[in-house]
Amino acid sequence: MGEKWVLMKTAQTPTNIAVIKYWGKRDETLILPVNDSISVTLDPAHLCTTTTVAVSPAFQQDRMWLNGKEISLSGGRYQNCLREIRTRAREVEDKERGIKIEKKDWEKLHLHIASYNNFPTAAGLASSAAGFACLVFALAKLMNVSEDESQLSAIARQGSGSACRSLFGGFVKWIMGKEDDGSDSLAVQLVDEKHWEDLFIIIAVVSSRQKETSSTSGMRESVETSSLLQHRAKEVVPKRTIKMEEAIQNRDFASFAKLACADSNQFHAVCLDTLPPIFYMNDTSHRIISYVEKWNRSEGTPQVAYTFDAGPNAVLIARDRKAAAQLIQRLLFYFPPKSDTDLDR
Ligand code: ADP
Ligand code: DP6
Ligand code: CO
Repeated sequence: MGEKWVLMKTAQTPTNIAVIKYWGKRDETLILPVNDSISVTLDPAHLCTTTTVAVSPAFQQDRMWLNGKEISLSGGRYQNCLREIRTRAREVEDKERGIKIEKKDWEKLHLHIASYNNFPTAAGLASSAAGFACLVFALAKLMNVSEDESQLSAIARQGSGSACRSLFGGFVKWIMGKEDDGSDSLAVQLVDEKHWEDLFIIIAVVSSRQKETSSTSGMRESVETSSLLQHRAKEVVPKRTIKMEEAIQNRDFASFAKLACADSNQFHAVCLDTLPPIFYMNDTSHRIISYVEKWNRSEGTPQVAYTFDAGPNAVLIARDRKAAAQLIQRLLFYFPPKSDTDLDR
């Protein structure tokens, strides 16, 4: 191996939004959840992460830049993902450039990683999901890893739980698994993006500010202090997951909306049941909920479902194009953006 070469790969991964939420771990290090969850992966043309990974004998250490700023890779989550991928790395050859990396070389070679989110980071729009899924996918490409998406999802899971669901499009289920080593805690695709093409997803950015309580610490506090979380994980989510899968298979929007809204509301109720309570939604979020509930009731059948992750931003899922157009008109009427900077309030 000469010293002058750099080998690079770039990947792009969309974010995903849970309609049955993951909130709570039974194992903090391996990132094993207390319940199954279901999400929808967004269109990669909109909210996504782009990550370039590069390897060169000239690199002295592993380094990473997120949105142009260098970040530390010393955290366990980055180390776990890097280790898991490196152990699966295989021989890579670029004949044209005369580069050959043997399996054993990967242990010594260092990586430079540059990642960019085209949407707010750490604001409750699942940047950790797109981010870690993209990181694992890009590294797997660079290192010629042969594992399939579900196996890669179990690695991405160790970066951020929600990331395991971003390796597939369409509707995706994260099966919590039973094993203590996490080997069966991975994502599977329920249906692909073509299955329910009528749906329109609109993200109403209420605030792009970084949240005060990260998902990781918020759910840790909920596990420690909320009895509602225990009830939710054991009694509510298992039944709700089955119903949600049925609603998705049958494209039954009325059931889908009812279940998604109820699950978002229960997740935020768990946050309120946490000591000290965590407030991810704000007044604008609450007004959006009231507004959608009223509209759905006045139509007799749901037109729009809402769901909020760990932040104030609304994810609105309209049943079809017509409902989406009406929704956008109404949002602009009731919540007019006053100026560009106002979006940041
Ligand atoms: P969010 O709601 O945006 O997922 P989290 O609190 O769950 O917020 O996670 C935010 C953290 O995820 C960031 O502080 C960073 O450590 C990590 N992260 C975000 N984007 C990326 C990325 N593109 N690549 C790697 N890690 C990322
Ligand atoms: C509310 O996956 O960000 O978005 O596993 O600690 O990185 P860590 O947490 P994260 O939590 C996501 C929580 C949620 C719901 C969901 O995506 O299912
Ligand atoms: Co996250």
